[in-house]
Amino acid sequence: MSLSECKIIDLPKILEKRGNLTFIEGTRHLPFEIKRVYYLYDVPGGATRGGHAHKQLEQFIIAAMGSFDVVLDDGFEKKRFHLNRSYYGLYIPRMIWRELDNFSSGSVSLALVSQYYDEDDYIRDYDVFVNNIRQQQPRTSKGR
Ligand code: TYD
Repeated sequence: MSLSECKIIDLPKILEKRGNLTFIEGTRHLPFEIKRVYYLYDVPGGATRGGHAHKQLEQFIIAAMGSFDVVLDDGFEKKRFHLNRSYYGLYIPRMIWRELDNFSSGSVSLALVSQYYDEDDYIRDYDVFVNNIRQQQPRTSKGR
């Protein structure tokens, strides 16, 4: 997959004096069926999470509290996204390398994903990822 398929998706917001509410309705808001939810919390300052790609899994990441950065890499180029609001998130298709860093104190990263946990779906070695991508998508004269 290419970085052009990674995108910020805005979510509905119900703004009230008594507090705000955001909701996500499966495939109405996301390009996949949600099968699993997990969250990162109590992340120490300076820590990096992620550091892998997925063969099939698609993902949507929200900064439910605080902020952090997500660096995406399609094997050719990288892009850094700063997430800091709970009413939008970042969609990551399959076969994109991701790293999460720059976590603010008390931040919570909420992940909605398309598969049950399966270690066999992970690629945890960056060189393996890049080789895999370049075999599937050889560079053209345009550099891709
Ligand atoms: P990992 O996906 O590597 O964390 P991150 O990418 O956020 O840094 O997962 C860390 C550990 O937790 C690893 O041993 C696998 C385990 N794990 C589960 O058992 N179930 C899950 O749903 C997830 C996301 C991870």
